[in-house]
Amino acid sequence: MKIDYKETTSDLISRINIHDKFGGRNIDEWMLETLDLKEGMKILDAACGSGKQCSSFYTSLKGNCDITGGDVSLELLAKAKQLSEENGQNIKFQTLNFNESFQFATNEFDLLSCCFAIYYSEDIPFTIREMHRVLKPGGKLFTTGPMPENKQTFYEIIKEATNKPIPKMPGSSRYASEILLAIENAFSKVEIKIFENPLTFPTVEPFLEYTRASLSEDRKLWGDFFTEKDSFVKVMRSIEDVANNWVERDGKIVMTKVVGGFIASK
Ligand SMILES: C[S@@+](CC[C@H](N)C(=O)[O-])C[C@H]1O[C@@H](n2cnc3c(N)ncnc32)[C@H](O)[C@@H]1O
Repeated sequence: MKIDYKETTSDLISRINIHDKFGGRNIDEWMLETLDLKEGMKILDAACGSGKQCSSFYTSLKGNCDITGGDVSLELLAKAKQLSEENGQNIKFQTLNFNESFQFATNEFDLLSCCFAIYYSEDIPFTIREMHRVLKPGGKLFTTGPMPENKQTFYEIIKEATNKPIPKMPGSSRYASEILLAIENAFSKVEIKIFENPLTFPTVEPFLEYTRASLSEDRKLWGDFFTEKDSFVKVMRSIEDVANNWVERDGKIVMTKVVGGFIASK
């Protein structure tokens, strides 16, 4: 399956900041409670983006660990490196592409995490096999991604504003089905944990900021919505009108993130 997708540094950081500010719960705390991290662990964070999970692991293990972050985006890798240096964290970063063999030895890592990204792989069984290969026997794969009921409010508002069907998202359409099945096929045991996080927007502006950073033409996922030159501006204007009606009616917009955490053992 060809995936036309490119994450930009500013959109990713903008969405992370909005979760921090308007979310009722913290997903990194949940991730650390869910994973049984041990000092000395060797960890690979695949599709590390700006290094959010690498940094959480490092802090939680007080630096007594060996962490590598890998991503296909050189821009995000540079950002992750810059942030980890600013925080005095000794984390390695290197290129990693889901669609190519990973540049690591077999049986190398205790934990391989892959948060909000596995669904950008063009060949899921291949990528999962690579993840399985680089893990030590008994090592764990941890993935996160959207469950089908994720952020319904967001899609309802966009549907109401555009009268168009929502394009099939590579994440929510495949994560709990095709991707879970591929993990179950490759690993000996898989546990499923659910994390729900309501984001409460008291005004329209932060919701629009989140929407802009999700729909942004640069990310390419919503290409069918933006066929004409000024269609992004027009779509955002209609979304603003609908979002204003929702805030007037309900006093706020609540968008609940429903995330699946899959923990698989090799
Ligand atoms: C939504 S971001 C998540 C980043 C980070 N894990 C986080 O939660 O903040 C998705 C990430 O997947 C990366 N990505 C997309 N396609 C990829 C591929 N083929 N191989 C490796 N990484 C990829 C993007 O560059 C981006 O950093």
